[in-house]
Amino acid sequence: MAVLITGATGYIGSHTVVELLNRGYETVLVDNLSNSDISVLDKIEEITGKRPVFYELDVAIRENVERIFSENHIDAVIHFAGLKAVGESCKLPSLYYYNNIASATAVSDVAARHGCFKIIFSSSATVYGEPETVPITEDFPLHTSNPYGTTKLLIENIYRDAYAYDNRWNITLLRYFNPIGSHESGLLGDDPNGIPNNLMPYITRVAAGQLEKLSVFGNDYPTRDGTGVRDYIHVVDLAIGHVAALERMTETGVHTFNLGTGKGCSVLEIIEAFERVNGVKIPYVITERRSGDVPEYYADSSKAERELGWKAERDIDDMCRSAWNFIVRTKK
Ligand code: NAD
Ligand code: WQD
Repeated sequence: MAVLITGATGYIGSHTVVELLNRGYETVLVDNLSNSDISVLDKIEEITGKRPVFYELDVAIRENVERIFSENHIDAVIHFAGLKAVGESCKLPSLYYYNNIASATAVSDVAARHGCFKIIFSSSATVYGEPETVPITEDFPLHTSNPYGTTKLLIENIYRDAYAYDNRWNITLLRYFNPIGSHESGLLGDDPNGIPNNLMPYITRVAAGQLEKLSVFGNDYPTRDGTGVRDYIHVVDLAIGHVAALERMTETGVHTFNLGTGKGCSVLEIIEAFERVNGVKIPYVITERRSGDVPEYYADSSKAERELGWKAERDIDDMCRSAWNFIVRTKK
């Protein structure tokens, strides 16, 4: 089976490409390198021994997607390409709506014209907004509170409409919880430009001495230690979840799955685990809550376990160890 992976040199895309290549899938990769580096291709080759076809193109431009489909036979698309920073999406909403919606619609429109009706889309737990209870199942109400999240919900709705009006479509919406960690080789990982917004890349920069201390955003939430609770999932487990989804794309329809571990972990628990497994200190201060943060959320991923035969296997210690290994191997 030949799979087009958009956003292929990004954090989750690159890990998924490795899992696909290791299982013998034919892959075609595309990325405009707006948030990733061309050197990721060398790392993929070093890990898998394979050098996949790569296009440096913007998939928000329809002609670019057309070129890829006319030059390759594609059976399915995994669509990762998108802008993903919540804060930036509030400053540049039009850019987020344009890039994310244009990419998703260009991919689905061109794919269909070439007879390809299988798409796996990177959605997010952000589509659940602030849930009334946890764990979150796929049928929880959907609402968003920032432009980034709204792009995810809009694309889900566009893809639901695609199937509603043409039942040849086979679309899988994967709602990721909080991916962290790195490939065991230490060659691939989360490497954001500038000062990180997300917890784990911030922690690794503090551990590396590039940032002085971590700000823990609030310790007065109604959680077990007062800090925010999230469902952190190892990026390799998440990547394997895409393979599982691809292998189960036998029936047309729109199939939605949470990909998480089902376990919540607080900010202080992450710091404790990181310090313990890596033997490094993470200085931190408690600061104000970050606006827009939800106190606690974690997935009910039993649907993915039941229907995809997939379950996250790596624990918080593995996530913290591999996140630091990536920095040690590539940066220090
Ligand atoms: P990432 O930024 O590392 O990867 C996205 C890749 O897409 C980047 O390499 C970027 O250069 C590329 N890209 C962006 N716009 C493009 C365009 N128009 N044409 C071609 N390439 C383009 O992000 P990631 O963490 O790997 O996320 C992958 C997907 O998963 C995104 O859609 C993101 O919204 C979604 N997601 C991420 C998280 C998370 O916490 N990392 C959680 C839920 C959902
Ligand atoms: C995790 C916890 C923070 C940084 C975001 C997006 C979401 C999804 C994943 C794409 C929270 C706390 C963080 C710091 C801290 N992305 N924190 N100090 O906010 O759960 O989710 O990324 O779809 O849409 O919103 O992830 O890593 O930013 O925060 O105390 O410097 O760490 O308050 O409790 P979040 P995060």
